[in-house]
Amino acid sequence: MRLIVAKDYTHLSRIAADKVENQVLLKPDSRIGTVTGASPAGMYLELVRRCQEEGLDFSEVSTVNTDEYAGLSGDHPQSYRYYLDHHFLEPCRIRRERTEVPRGDAKDLEEECRRYETFYRKNPVDLQILGIGHSGHIGFNEPEHYFPEETHMVSLAPETIAANAEYFDDPEQMPAKALTVGIGTLMQAKSILLLVSGKSKAEIVYRFLCGNITPEVPATVLRLHQNVTAVLDEDALSVVRQRAPERLRQLLG
Ligand code: GLP
Repeated sequence: MRLIVAKDYTHLSRIAADKVENQVLLKPDSRIGTVTGASPAGMYLELVRRCQEEGLDFSEVSTVNTDEYAGLSGDHPQSYRYYLDHHFLEPCRIRRERTEVPRGDAKDLEEECRRYETFYRKNPVDLQILGIGHSGHIGFNEPEHYFPEETHMVSLAPETIAANAEYFDDPEQMPAKALTVGIGTLMQAKSILLLVSGKSKAEIVYRFLCGNITPEVPATVLRLHQNVTAVLDEDALSVVRQRAPERLRQLLG
């Protein structure tokens, strides 16, 4: 895993946008695995700026998102489909038929998981963007006793509900379940770009980098992937800087 230290969130977002831009310059028809949440928001903003002001061309790009809330349709303002359409896909002029997000309002959600898994496996992801939840989740793969392999339904961890409920006008409306690609699905990506920012992530970043590889901290599995770049800001690294073994601290500079 390559570690890149950013001084703050703005710096992190710029580094992340550079990585995505490079990917698309080298392979214009790249498939990007998208994720939502606060971590990649600044990166999307910067990519949109580059598309609109600097002629960055995403017309051949296709995308596939990691997860969606169960029960929300794509026109619900808190759905991940809605977020991506408005903050990335439409402003970067990526055509709708080139984009995939699990259908949270599908009649049969188990069937939708199977459809999504088949799609992900048939259409390899060139660059998967990821964030880490406070519980250590990636996508919505919450702490478990095993690594779920395929796209599945998940009950969200209490920390996840607490962190995400604030985005809902009425926090009670936040779904307690979601559809997410599995750990096995994510590990198929050719490369992974992990973004982590903020003091609230500092403890989980320490466990991610220094703890055992365990499904109880799902993100630790990324240490087994052969092509991961993690961009972390100083706030996210604050516990690692205090407690990590000397050799890792030296590596961070
Ligand atoms: C969210 C998403 C994840 C995301 C993670 C971290 O709820 N479903 O895919 O990566 O939790 O979110 P944030 O970046 O807001 O901390």
